[in-house]
Amino acid sequence: ASIEKGNYRHYMQKEIFEQPTVVAQTLSSYLRQADETVALPQIDFDLSTVNRITIVACGTSYYAAMVAKYWFEQFARVPVDLDFASEFRYREPVLEEGGLALFISQSGETADTLAALRHCKAEGQTIGVVVNVPTSSMAREADLLLPTHAGPEIGVASTKAFTCQLAVLAALASHLAVKKGRMDRSEEQEVVKHLLEAPACLNAALDHDDDIASMAHLIAPARDVLYLGRGPDFPLALEGALKLKEISYIHAEGYASGEMKHGPIALIDEEVPVIVLAPSGPLFEKTVSNMHEVRARGGQVVLISDRAGIEEAGEGCIATIEMPQVHPLIAPLVYAVPVQLLAYHVACVKGTDVDQPRNLAKSVTVE
Ligand code: G6P
Repeated sequence: ASIEKGNYRHYMQKEIFEQPTVVAQTLSSYLRQADETVALPQIDFDLSTVNRITIVACGTSYYAAMVAKYWFEQFARVPVDLDFASEFRYREPVLEEGGLALFISQSGETADTLAALRHCKAEGQTIGVVVNVPTSSMAREADLLLPTHAGPEIGVASTKAFTCQLAVLAALASHLAVKKGRMDRSEEQEVVKHLLEAPACLNAALDHDDDIASMAHLIAPARDVLYLGRGPDFPLALEGALKLKEISYIHAEGYASGEMKHGPIALIDEEVPVIVLAPSGPLFEKTVSNMHEVRARGGQVVLISDRAGIEEAGEGCIATIEMPQVHPLIAPLVYAVPVQLLAYHVACVKGTDVDQPRNLAKSVTVE
């Protein structure tokens, strides 16, 4: 029954709307609500010995990995090396003894990622796998299997698998931080509490579906779209651009907000919508000044932020989308929703094949 479209027009749309449920499902197997601790399933491996993490993935899974790098480094103070699977083996990566190599994949079958996994295994790394298909090759070859419980994902462009990957990675990063003595009991409880708020916040984000659908008409005529974000929300800018390219065939680029002035600002004119992902917080001011740089060149800014952020900087934007006020840890999960919905509705306006975009495959099994 879970692979029927039900009342939805497309699988992708259904999968976007399933996120509160599947993220809650996924979190429930990593968080113990009773004592507010993070508990990984079936773990007979001492994470406290891990001094370096190598993460390898492709596509949307790579952007989940990119968010996780911020978390592993910030919470657990463990350095992370990150690569596209297709680049990884050929650059002769340095793999230290006792390292954890982490592979993130919805399908568990992506050829480049699987080849990278086997390379790391041969080099004696401990193999951790975050995967949505429990019977996949990657799941079978893992030392440490960390499943996402997103259920079957049919839309070629990944959505619910991504937010579930983020949920698992946030739990893993917190668990590692505890094991490393970087997070005490009360901080762990804080984190668990905020992660458990994620499903309700995803629902609040989904409530803006109609606003985003009307906004899609402003974006659909564009030839180029720029997405900006900072810190752990920078990968969301990349993911937003990827989603738009994949299903609406509009050229889009994601950039770190502060890096825009080193190149993409040259592209800005009245024709280029700039989607800014910026929850309010310590770095918000800096992003606001990046928005001013865009506006001074006639750029059309769409601000995705919370109420405080929109009140402070929403004026002069062609549109704003209000997200709930969230803890920074769950912001990447929550801000995934508007970028997915925006790509979805733009594709609907353009009449493209949302679930089966041209030239793309659900799972790429050639290197
Ligand atoms: C393909 C899909 C993407 C996906 C990527 C990685 O390109 O179209 O949606 O993110 O593969 O797939 P994986 O199954 O390894 O996560």
